[in-house]
Amino acid sequence: MSILLTGDRVLLREFVPDDWRAVHAYDTLPEVYRFQPWGPNTPEKARAYVDTVIAASRAEPRDRYGLAIVLKATGVFIGACELKIKDRRFRAGEIGYVLHSRHWGHGYATEAARLLLAFGFGPQGLHRIQATCHPQNTASSRVLQRLGMQYEGRMRETMLLRDGWRDSDLYSILDAEWAP
Ligand SMILES: CC(C)(COP(=O)(O)OP(=O)(O)OC[C@H]1O[C@@H](n2cnc3c(N)ncnc32)[C@H](O)[C@@H]1OP(=O)(O)O)[C@@H](O)C(=O)NCCC(=O)NCCS
Repeated sequence: MSILLTGDRVLLREFVPDDWRAVHAYDTLPEVYRFQPWGPNTPEKARAYVDTVIAASRAEPRDRYGLAIVLKATGVFIGACELKIKDRRFRAGEIGYVLHSRHWGHGYATEAARLLLAFGFGPQGLHRIQATCHPQNTASSRVLQRLGMQYEGRMRETMLLRDGWRDSDLYSILDAEWAP
């Protein structure tokens, strides 16, 4: 089933193969990959990422909802986000997002993440949704706090970045706390 989630200003839609070009417009920008284990990416890596997301969208059951974030008014691709079902039995999921830096500071990541939470707690019936971010990634931690997610603590050395191991701050929200 093809997913389309509609917000006031952004739409979350399924990826199409040609989206690799828009992904590659941000995956080489140091400010975008600074806190990520990937980057700078080659065109091949951007293509492989999009192919992987599309392949995952066809899996049965589907556990990865990797969606393109586009502006509702123009259809312009501004970033990517994902809801991952981590555990069906205990109804647990995880969200993530990335935006081209040209589009930072307009509340788009917050809007996209809200759509993912509504989708996770609504049609997917999840009980708990978590997210992690680099302790210095204040833009992302502010997004998570604005969503009503609660800080749970710092996980030590979870990812190897270009300059060494990084810790991850863990946030979560439960279905009973979620107010659309
Ligand atoms: C983290 C990231 C996705 C944030 O994206 P963003 O779209 O700029 O985030 P938002 O716009 O929702 O929030 C940022 C600011 O916009 C402001 N803003 C402007 N208009 C807004 C609106 N209409 N509604 C909400 N916020 C708005 C917010 O006040 C916020 O500023 P503040 O945090 O100082 O209060 C982006 O910085 C990014 O892609 N970083 C690189 C990848 C990354 O780190 N991903 C997260 C991995 S954990």
